[in-house]
Amino acid sequence: MNIAVISDIHANLSALNSVLDDINEFNPDIIFCLGDYVMAGYNPNGTMDKLFDLRQKFGDNFKMIQGNTDKMVACCSDELLKNSKEAYPCMGYSLEEDVKITDKKYIEFIKNLPEKMNIEICNLKIELVHGSPRRQNENIYPGLSENTVEEMVADSEAELILCGHTHKPAGYSLSSGKTVINVGSVGRSMIESKMPVYLRLVVDKNGQFYSEHRIVDYDNKQVFNHILTRDFPHCRELAEMFV
Ligand SMILES: [Fe+2]
Repeated sequence: MNIAVISDIHANLSALNSVLDDINEFNPDIIFCLGDYVMAGYNPNGTMDKLFDLRQKFGDNFKMIQGNTDKMVACCSDELLKNSKEAYPCMGYSLEEDVKITDKKYIEFIKNLPEKMNIEICNLKIELVHGSPRRQNENIYPGLSENTVEEMVADSEAELILCGHTHKPAGYSLSSGKTVINVGSVGRSMIESKMPVYLRLVVDKNGQFYSEHRIVDYDNKQVFNHILTRDFPHCRELAEMFV
């Protein structure tokens, strides 16, 4: 079974398209999306249009869960906007704009996505989460101690836990027998090159699996310019994160 796992697209349609070109070469049976679809990028509606096309094409084999910024967009309030603008201005102002421009049908859709999902493929138990099994916004970064990661996934029954959120790829094979893989980010990658990252996962008929993080090239300078055209306060700071 060939599986592609993508996360943290953040309205970056250009990065998503480049990743999908790479995914298509691998001819996946299933695609998992681990959340953060529309906030803090340049094209939330184009991104959701594309994801809806894929849902149509893959049907039940296209799985989506909700990320923490999806919840922020879907459940935005004056208090959240005020706090976000104070704590992290470019994110707060972007959130305000994203809520205004994202199609209501997409906001309703991401509001109703599950926070996590358990799936069994060829007897392999897989859990999809955004941050960690215990919290949607918990960070499974590279370089954590094994004990720390064991605690984060203690409540999970799965053998393989797939997560995103930090925008940094990571992987842990734990003494408990669990494997934890942070798939990285498509749209706001925080590896040194800022290029999109996703995971290819192959599960054989006995439930044995292997995986590979893929780094894909794309035109990030074009995204920088697209974001500047949105012209909300602090948007240059947001744009600079892409280059
Ligand atoms: Fe994210």
